Amino acid sequence: MDGPLRFRFYGASPATTVILYLLYSTFQAQNMDRRIHILGVGNIGKYIAYALAGLSQTRTTPSVRLLFHRKSLVTEWEKAGCAIEYTPLDQDCCTSVKPGQTSYAHDVQIELLYDRESQEAEAAEGPIRNLIVTTKAHNTITALAPLRHRLDKNSHILFLQNGMGVTDEVTSALFRDPNSRPTYWTGICSAGVYSRGPFSIVHAGPGPLRFGADNDIAGSVAGGPLGSRKMHGGRRITVLEDALLKAHMLRPQRLSPGEILQAQLTKLVINSVINPLTALRGCKNGAVFADEEGDRDRRILVQEAGAIVRELLQQSTKTSPGATLSDSELLTAVAGVAEATADNTSSMLQDIRAGRPTEIDYINGYLVRKAELLNLPCQRHKELVAEIKEKEKEMAKENEEPKEDRDGGAGGNLPATL
Ligand SMILES: NC(=O)c1ccc[n+]([C@@H]2O[C@H](COP(=O)([O-])OP(=O)(O)OC[C@H]3O[C@@H](n4cnc5c(N)ncnc54)[C@H](OP(=O)(O)O)[C@@H]3O)[C@@H](O)[C@H]2O)c1
Repeated sequence: MDGPLRFRFYGASPATTVILYLLYSTFQAQNMDRRIHILGVGNIGKYIAYALAGLSQTRTTPSVRLLFHRKSLVTEWEKAGCAIEYTPLDQDCCTSVKPGQTSYAHDVQIELLYDRESQEAEAAEGPIRNLIVTTKAHNTITALAPLRHRLDKNSHILFLQNGMGVTDEVTSALFRDPNSRPTYWTGICSAGVYSRGPFSIVHAGPGPLRFGADNDIAGSVAGGPLGSRKMHGGRRITVLEDALLKAHMLRPQRLSPGEILQAQLTKLVINSVINPLTALRGCKNGAVFADEEGDRDRRILVQEAGAIVRELLQQSTKTSPGATLSDSELLTAVAGVAEATADNTSSMLQDIRAGRPTEIDYINGYLVRKAELLNLPCQRHKELVAEIKEKEKEMAKENEEPKEDRDGGAGGNLPATL
C-alpha cells in the first residue's frame, strides 16, 4: 500500500498510520464529492454559482468551483476582486438584495482547465462528482471532452441549456459505455440574466429553475455512491439536488423524469416559434405575432411541432400523468411567453446580431431530425433552420472582425429568457 507510507504521523505505529490515512482519504473524498463544478462561465453559470455560493455554511455545504477554459479568465477574475457581482432588477427575484443594489459572492473557487491559447494541459484536480453545464448547447462536447477522464458513473451532470438533443450527443461522443456513464440531469432556467462585466451579472427577470434526473435515479442513488446522502423517507438525495433545492433564489422545483420531459418539450416548442421568428424579423418578443404573417407562422409551427412532441411523449417510457400538449395548450403557452417577455430580445436574435452561432440545431433542428425519424411533416421548421443558418453566415461575414463579447456573454447587455 503506497499511500500511507508517504504519510508520517508523529508517534503513530504503522497500524495507526494506516487507520489515520484511511480516515484522511475518506475525508478528502467526501470534500471532493461536495464540490459543485460549473462549466461555462457565462450569464447562467455565474448566476447559479452566485446562488449556490450564498447557501448558509454548514459542515456539509458544497463548495462551488468555476471551471475556466481560458487563461484570460483568471486575470479577469482577479481584476473583479475574485468575486461574482450580482444585481437584481426585479423585486420578485427572491433574494435579500434590493432591486438595483449590488451584492458579491466571494466564496467561489476557480480552476483553470485548459488554456486554449497555449494548449497547456490542465493540472490534475481529481474526480468530478457534481457538474453543471452552462455552455451554449453547441459548445457542450468541446467543453466536456477535456473532463471526460474525471467523470464516471458516480458523477452527476446537470445540463442547463436551451434546446434538446445534447445528452444524446454527449452519450455517443463521450459515454458510450452505460456502466461508466454519469447520471444526467436536465434543467430549465426561466430566469433572465445578462452580464455587464466578466464577473458581473444582472438578474433581469425572475423565473424558476425546474430540474430533474433524466431517468428515475431513486434506485441507483440509494446504492449510496459518495455523492449522495440520506434525506427523508428512506430516499437518498444527491449533493447537487440538495444544494439546488436549498438555493431559494433560484426558485428550484424538482420534477420527475416524466414532468421534466414534458416541460422540456413545451419549452422547445415555445423557443422554436419565438426564437427564429424574432431573429429573422429583428424584432422584440412582443412584436413577433403582431401581424398576420407572424400569426400564421405561429399556427403552422405549433401544428408541426405539436404532432412531433406528442409522439415523443407517447414513445417515452417516462410517464407524466395528464401530459397532453395539445395544439391549443401550446399556442397559449407560446402567446403567454411572448407577452410576458414582450420587451426582451430573444437569445437567438442577440446571437445573430453579434455574429455568433445560434442554438437552432438544438431547437428547430431537433424537431426536424425527430420528424424525419417519425415520418411527420415539418416543412416550416426545416425552412427556418435553413434561413437562420443563412443569416448566421451573413452576419458572421458582416462581423468579420470577430466580436469578442468577453464581457457580455450570450446575453450581452440585454435580458434574454428564451
Ligand atoms: N441568459 C439567460 O437569461 C438564459 C435564460 C435561459 C436559458 N439560457 C440558456 O442557458 C445556456 C447558457 O446561456 P448563457 O446566456 O449563460 O450563455 P453565455 O453567456 O454565452 O455563456 C456560455 C459560456 O460558455 C463558455 N464556453 C464556450 N465554449 C466553452 C468551452 N469549450 N469550455 C468551457 N466553456 C465554454 C463561454 O465562454 P466564451 O466567452 O469563451 O465563449 C461562455 O462564458 C444557453 O443554452 C442559453 O440558451 C440562458
